[in-house]
Formats: sequence, C-alpha cells, structure tokens
Amino acid sequence: MRYSCPQTVQPRPSTHESPGNGDLMRAQAWQWEGLLHISQNRVAVLLLAGGQGTRLGVTYPKGMYDVGLPSHKTLFQLQAERILKLQQLAEKCHGNRCTIPWYIMTSGRTMRSTEEFFAKHRYFGLQKENVVFFQQGMLPAMSFDGKILLEEKSKVSMAPDGNGGLYRALAAWDIVGDMERRGVGCVHVYCVDNILVRVADPRFIGFCVQQGADCCAKVVEKTNPTEPVGVVCRVDGVYQVVEYSEISLATAQRRSPDGRLLFNAGNIANHFFTVPFLRDIVNVHEPQLQHHVAQKKIPYVDSQGQLIEPDKPNGIKMEKFVFDIFQFAKKFVVYEVLREDEFSPLKNADSQNGKDNPTTARHALMSLHHCWVLNAGGHFIDENGCRLPAIPRLKDASDNPIQCEVSPLSSYAGEGLESLVANREFHAPLIIDEHGAHELVKNGL
Ligand code: UTP
Repeated sequence: MRYSCPQTVQPRPSTHESPGNGDLMRAQAWQWEGLLHISQNRVAVLLLAGGQGTRLGVTYPKGMYDVGLPSHKTLFQLQAERILKLQQLAEKCHGNRCTIPWYIMTSGRTMRSTEEFFAKHRYFGLQKENVVFFQQGMLPAMSFDGKILLEEKSKVSMAPDGNGGLYRALAAWDIVGDMERRGVGCVHVYCVDNILVRVADPRFIGFCVQQGADCCAKVVEKTNPTEPVGVVCRVDGVYQVVEYSEISLATAQRRSPDGRLLFNAGNIANHFFTVPFLRDIVNVHEPQLQHHVAQKKIPYVDSQGQLIEPDKPNGIKMEKFVFDIFQFAKKFVVYEVLREDEFSPLKNADSQNGKDNPTTARHALMSLHHCWVLNAGGHFIDENGCRLPAIPRLKDASDNPIQCEVSPLSSYAGEGLESLVANREFHAPLIIDEHGAHELVKNGL
C-alpha cells in the first residue's frame, strides 16, 4: 500500500518527547523513576536475535560478531555488561539488590549456537537462571513464482517468521507467564544488531511509566527524505510504522514550519511494552497480525541437486514485524533520542562498502566513548604531546575516530568517568574498564 494523502497519514503521535531537548530536570526524573522500577525487579529486557543475518554473511548468530573493538567484545557481551552495570546503578540509587531478566529470542537457525556461546562465556557474569532462551517459529521460503525452495534434496528451506514471530513464541514458550511469575511489569524489546543499544534504558523506562503508556517506540530523527528507514506515524487514527517504500517521495519530502521533515520519527526497533499489554497481544490479538512479504537471497538446490547461492534476491520469506502490535495500544507514545548516542546497526559486511557495517558500528561506538571521556574532563594528545582538537564526531564513514572504548562495566552511558579521566591526558588507543583507564600502546597491550 502507498500512502500519500495527508488526511489519513499523520506524522506526530499524541506524545512525542525527547530527552535531548535540554530539560535536564525532567530527564533526571525519568532516570530516577526507571531505576526505581529496575531496583524493584519490575523491568525485563527482551532481545530479538532470531534473524539469519544474511546481509552480514556470517554462519553464526549476529550477536556473536566481533566488530573489531580494542577489547574484541561481541555484541552479546556488550549487552550483557550493560545489564550488569544497570543492576549496580539501580542498587546504588535505590538501595535494593535487583535482577533484570534477559529473554533472548532465537530461531531454529540460531538457538543452539547462541545457548552454547552463553554457556561457554558463563553468561558474561549474569546468573544463568536470569537468561531465558526461547525460539520463534519458522516458515517455508518460496521462489517468486510461489514454489517452495529446497535447502537440500529432501529438505524444505525454512526461514524464521520475522521479528514479529515474537508474539507466537511468547505464547508457545509461556514467556509472558514467566514474566508475570517474576513480578515484571514492563519490558524493553530491542534488536541484537544495534551496537549502541541502551539495554533497559532507565530514562526511557521512566518516561514511559510516567506517561502511563502501554506501548512506546524509541525513535531517531529522520533527516534525509530518501533514507531507507520506516517512520512511526498514525494512519487512519492507528499507530504504525510506515516503511520508506510505502510513502511517495513527495510525502517523504514534506517539512514542518521548523524545517524538519514532517515524517521524521525514524523507527529503530526499540520498544517498551507493559506485561499486561503483551498478555493481551498473546491472548487476543496475535492471530490478527498479518504476514509481510520480504524479498531475500535464499540458497537452494536446483533440480540437479546443485546448491545455488544467489547474489541477489531470488525468493520471498513471510514475516511478521515486532511493531505490528502498535495498533492495539491503549496509550502509545514516542520517545526521540540522538542517533549518534543510541543507534548504529550492523546489517552489512564491510566488503559491501556501504553503511551499517562492522566499520561504521565500531566507529560509532568509539566516537561516542571519545565524547564521554571529553565530557568527563579528559583530553587526548598526539605522539608529540599536543592536545588533539576536541571535535570527536566523524565527518563520514571513512574517517577514523580516536580509538577509545569504555567498558559497560565501568560506565553505562558516560556517567561516573570523572574520577578516572578528569584533567588527565591520554594517548589513544584508550580502554577504560572496571580496573581503570589504560593506554594500550604505552602498556604494550
Ligand atoms: P533484520 O530484519 O535486519 O534481519 O533483523 P537479520 O536477520 O538480522 O538480517 P538479514 O535481513 O538476514 O540480513 C532485525 C532484528 O530482528 C531480528 C534480528 O535478529 C535483528 O535483531 N529478527 C529478524 C528476528 O529475531 N527474527 C526474524 O525472523 C528476523
């Protein structure tokens, strides 16, 4: 369906807030509230990790990918450590020892290797019983003319049923029941491939709770009309994500009086749901969710039994999307964050030379952590001892950022670094971890 009529498509949901709008007091109140809920064991996180990562082109789950940070931590480890740190921050703020259960949705393609990876790494310091794996469903993949594709001579090619397969899987594995038994009240749902994801972001949680929302989308501002990102908007009074391919260029180019794009709430698949809302979805609404058709590259065997690895899309997979449930929310709100602080997805291989690849993900993280060090009063110097200009952001993807990595065990989102870096000068590469600040070259690491 294409949307171009401004009468039916409305850009702004009723509540659209941003912590970046300068109101520090309000942001602190949200943070306090979010940490309170975390400290009372009322917040869980849910990771969507059932995708096949075909564009990245690896044979193992994307969460196991190492984008080449100085520490060589994988996406799973970065997320696990943010959870650990947040439990500590909540305890420090509100005085209760607490747990953030981590639900990890895998698929037939990723379940075993994901579980084995976590076991091998001792759950990255989390307690095993608080990391709950479950598996989404699979559907047959088809050619464009509707024929079922074979993966091997006598094996149908099956693909996970999209990240919206979540809701059937929640029912099948009684995950909402597990949340209810633990007393969890709300869940942060996110994708495995965003290296900057603020897992269980207390500000976001606090904002949603204060709004009395049952469903919330975290978004980044879409600034370029042709950027291929879905936007959150209201269609015929119902909230949904409209894909970039579904609106006309003229609609995508419309601007509000302040010069910003009218349809600018870029969806980053980062959501807040209350548990009662999820219960309702699982019990009542899931069967109403429609499948979408996704064109993909699907390896198959031909009539001679020869394996063909296509280099362009050759078939379709049927998928549901995680955001398909916005339409059922009683109170839906939107929360806008800065892209450079919170969103850098890993989609493609470096060899594709595009965006959203391991290099852009690595650069985004190091550039952000460089900012944190500067904001905490630290400085970087070159080999001659001269201070480097404090303009850390990258101009484009080919720029190399200052190599700086802050372990999530040391800081969740840039807080608490002053005692380690204020008024100090560092040579890059710099690693800050729970043991302090280390210059890698100086220490010969
Ligand atoms: P993408 O749509 O980017 O798919 O997933 P992908 O599988 O990671 O990559 P490609 O398209 O094959 O290259 C966005 C998020 O949704 C999850 C992914 O794991 C990722 O976190 N996802 C996707 C699922 O959990 N299940 C699915 O069936 C599809």
